[in-house]
Amino acid sequence: MSMNVSFIGLGVMGYPMAGHLANAGHNVTVYNRTTAKAQQWTQEYKGDVALTPALAAKGADIVFMCVGNDDDLRSVVYGDDGVLAGMAVGTILVDHTTTSAEVAREVSAKAALKNIAFIDAPVSGGQAGAENGVLTVMAGGDEAVFAKVQPVMAAFSRFSQLLGEVGSGQLCKMVNQICIAGVVQGLAEGLHFAKQAGLDGEKVIETISKGAAGSWQMENRYKTMWQGEYEFGFAVDWMRKDLGIALDEAKNNGATLPMTATVDQYYADVQALGGGRYDTSSLLARIEALHKN
Ligand SMILES: NC(=O)c1ccc[n+]([C@@H]2O[C@H](COP(=O)([O-])OP(=O)(O)OC[C@H]3O[C@@H](n4cnc5c(N)ncnc54)[C@H](OP(=O)(O)O)[C@@H]3O)[C@@H](O)[C@H]2O)c1
Repeated sequence: MSMNVSFIGLGVMGYPMAGHLANAGHNVTVYNRTTAKAQQWTQEYKGDVALTPALAAKGADIVFMCVGNDDDLRSVVYGDDGVLAGMAVGTILVDHTTTSAEVAREVSAKAALKNIAFIDAPVSGGQAGAENGVLTVMAGGDEAVFAKVQPVMAAFSRFSQLLGEVGSGQLCKMVNQICIAGVVQGLAEGLHFAKQAGLDGEKVIETISKGAAGSWQMENRYKTMWQGEYEFGFAVDWMRKDLGIALDEAKNNGATLPMTATVDQYYADVQALGGGRYDTSSLLARIEALHKN
């Protein structure tokens, strides 16, 4: 069923996600802070451009957002130009940004005052997942509301799950990032060791990826790591934001995350090496830089 939807934030992730909604036959209105990107989007896909989040949200059944961090989210949701100013009673606001669980609860409470439902829905799968429409969506919110948005999100996702009340999607994304941090550091150390041992990296990975050491990171990143290529993918700056959110949340819930805290500092080293925009697999670049010195 075709719906009126809006998409706020046409970055690496939002641009193709909004495109999939248009290709699925929905009536899409987009807003992007840098208007040129929104105009470029309408050259590629069927849809309209609005000049403020509020104008984009007018007449929408569902408003999707994918911006940077907690404060970016607040700046597109609140105020006279924010989405809440444009949305009608009974409509749904969905946030795909990776944020704290706290801001998800805050936005949900503000939306509820206007009888607007909110779902936090961070994603996993990266740029390729967004472009190919195969993201994983981790959601928090009301079951009946999720049931309404899930078929629409299917335009850009291959799996979506409701984890619990508002904020649960973000908490699940924190688990995702915690797991990735350790796996990437392990892979970086393994490849570094293989190089030192004079092994053929290709043959090593071909062999061990079939056993218990296999992972998404190994499958998708070992080649570029072996070649020292990091100028693509999921930026270290974003990962530090995400690990910071997870470490803050751990202070609230009492979780002990020694490995996450350590890898977070390793990523700070990568930033200091000038690799803030490098892919997260650049932990190997850090090891190699230390090794040289
Ligand atoms: N990239 C990935 O692989 C990946 C994977 C999973 C999750 N995520 C998460 O998804 C979110 C977006 O990531 P991305 O890679 O798409 O980022 P990005 O390419 O940097 O895009 C960010 C988008 O948000 C907009 N924006 C940022 N701050 C804003 C503000 N204060 N007001 C209005 N608009 C603002 C930007 O507008 P402008 O065009 O004007 O700058 C842009 O459209 C982040 O939370 C990230 O952690 C990313």
